[in-house]
Amino acid sequence: MKPLILLLSLFSTFPTIIHCRNGVPFDYLMFTTIYPTAVCRADDDSVPESCEIPDATPQWSIHGLWPNYENGSYPQNCHGTPKHFEEDLIKSIEERLVSVWPNLYPKKTIQSFWKHEYDKHGTCAQSEKLFESELAYFTEVMNVFDAIDVAGGMSSVGPSEKPIGAKDIQNALAGVTGGKKFEFNCLRDKKTKQFLLGDIRLCLNKDLTLRDCPGHHNDDSHLNRVNRFERSTRKGPPLPSFQ
Ligand SMILES: *[C@@H]1O[C@H](CO)[C@@H](O)[C@H](O)[C@H]1NC(C)=O
Repeated sequence: MKPLILLLSLFSTFPTIIHCRNGVPFDYLMFTTIYPTAVCRADDDSVPESCEIPDATPQWSIHGLWPNYENGSYPQNCHGTPKHFEEDLIKSIEERLVSVWPNLYPKKTIQSFWKHEYDKHGTCAQSEKLFESELAYFTEVMNVFDAIDVAGGMSSVGPSEKPIGAKDIQNALAGVTGGKKFEFNCLRDKKTKQFLLGDIRLCLNKDLTLRDCPGHHNDDSHLNRVNRFERSTRKGPPLPSFQ
């Protein structure tokens, strides 16, 4: 009877030992760094203090690190451990996160941005060992931020009152990106109507080495647009929303 008992007990415990795999397979990662000055200038200034840049914010700060598919879509809100952001798990690095990954919207909690990013993107990255825990995810995003000196590269073109084009940005970042294709987005200043450089998006392999971003986002069509990368004035007008 022994084998039968063993068999039965295996069956009865089977459901409890099943667990879903965390994250999902994906193709590459996109690291987005924002220019908070532009983000706040594009915000709705009819709402006072809707966007504020905390004092310790670097000129370029973190938006997120996102698992992506080659076809342009991306997974979101995956099975993860935890499924939803838990502040306790990142206490050891929170002080630094507050500075380099700030929430610019005072009406929301500081943690709300991290929660949004982790729940939507971080959970999906857990299929990779490097990002298997919440703490690992946030730690690696900061490592990427530290390793890729976008602020240093961009300091050769701005802040400036002089309009800049895609070629200027490509030249400024050539050293930082090793010539890999990247993307950038502009935001419109609510008051002056100027286009401001709002973010820069770099693409990474799963081992965090740089790679070309897919697509044709950096072709010459961007050159027609006048982009400005303006001087940071901390007391400048407020502004919009990014997700
Ligand atoms: C893109 O690729 C992923 C993974 O291969 C797939 O699950 C998804 O359905 C594709 N999406 C589109 C819009 O083709």
